[in-house]
Amino acid sequence: PKPCEVTPAIITKSYACQRRTPLKHHNSFLTEPLEILAENAEFSENEGRSIAFRRSASVLKALPRAVRAMDELKDLPCLGEHSLRVIKEILEDGTSSEVESTRQSEQFQAMKALTGVFGVGVRTADRWFREGLRSPLDLVHTGQKLSHTQQAGVQHYNDLNTPVTKKEAMVISDIVERAVKAVLPGAIIILTGGFRRGKEVGHDVDFLITHPEEGAEERLMPKIVNWLEDQGLLLYQKTTRNSYLESKDGPARPPSNMDRFERCFSIFRLEQTKVDCDEHVDASSYNSGRTDGTEERHSGSSWRAVRVDLVVSPYSQFAFATLGWTGSKLFERELRRWAGQEKGMSLSSHALYDSKQQRYLQANSEEELFAHLGLEYIPPSERNA
Ligand code: CTP
Ligand code: MN
Ligand code: MN
Ligand code: MN
Repeated sequence: PKPCEVTPAIITKSYACQRRTPLKHHNSFLTEPLEILAENAEFSENEGRSIAFRRSASVLKALPRAVRAMDELKDLPCLGEHSLRVIKEILEDGTSSEVESTRQSEQFQAMKALTGVFGVGVRTADRWFREGLRSPLDLVHTGQKLSHTQQAGVQHYNDLNTPVTKKEAMVISDIVERAVKAVLPGAIIILTGGFRRGKEVGHDVDFLITHPEEGAEERLMPKIVNWLEDQGLLLYQKTTRNSYLESKDGPARPPSNMDRFERCFSIFRLEQTKVDCDEHVDASSYNSGRTDGTEERHSGSSWRAVRVDLVVSPYSQFAFATLGWTGSKLFERELRRWAGQEKGMSLSSHALYDSKQQRYLQANSEEELFAHLGLEYIPPSERNA
């Protein structure tokens, strides 16, 4: 087909939630560099700039083939001047000097290493960077005061920065299923996050739990956590109570996009078979940048640490929670922006409020939610924006 036939459908679709974005696409050679710049903007707390780069990258992920020339981009939405400059440089020279110098910069590398510690955000990492710290080992050597979460993050740094495989996610699914069924028969458990979108690896494993009988799910998390702890399966956990009903934040929109479900951020102790251990060692030997010594080596014993997020939702909010916890983060962000700017609605992981009708819209499935929002249904595997 002629180049102009490549993109007509995408031209008017400037929100990522209007497009299908598969996991595997044809433009990683452009999107990865753009996402480096997005990440770097996040490290400097420049959210607007970061979102601009992420939106640019996302548009390119939705294209049916690799971009070869600048004129193929002229009708695409979301591509700002800066992104276009970077793309042009990569198309012409194979790399972008700005991206490469960012990648090499001491600040970027230190921020990446420090925010790679579970429990460390950009603010804290930046303060440490300005104090001269560069890596998790520096935190140990200088005796930084760390929260319990950060202590666990440093202790399990290498494991938590080793991608979780689908196979490992399935083993953890079985464990979570056993735990939940033991403490609340009839409960429903679904895998959310990246694995629901079809990712082969993830940084954690995400679950959403509910029960068809409204109210049966109340105070469920402590029971699940106790069961897991009794089995010696948890290395760390932090449970937060449901605070949605107590919140006074008005319709559908708690501050900072955080939802208010009962939830648990945890680190599982995952037993490994001999074969898994060998794979693990092989995989880590590729990773020359490891910070050895922050984690107690568990040679001999065969387990590894894996981050797991558990969320409990009432049945009446299950569709909202499923949509909100499936991601990707950009897709979620775009859904909320679409709802607000195009529909006069307010969407959260709890509810959808229609400002014109001044009422909440109910939904029993993700399909119904997309319909309420006036969007074509996009399946999880194509929400990889
Ligand atoms: N999420 C959320 N509130 C949080 C953390 C995450 O609503 N405090 C949602 C995100 O919006 C996302 C989903 O949970 O939709 C999964 O987030 P996360 O596990 O961070 O990312 P994944 O897409 O699963 O990718 P990864 O493989 O890196 O885990
Ligand atoms: Mn995840
Ligand atoms: Mn993530
Ligand atoms: Mn998660």
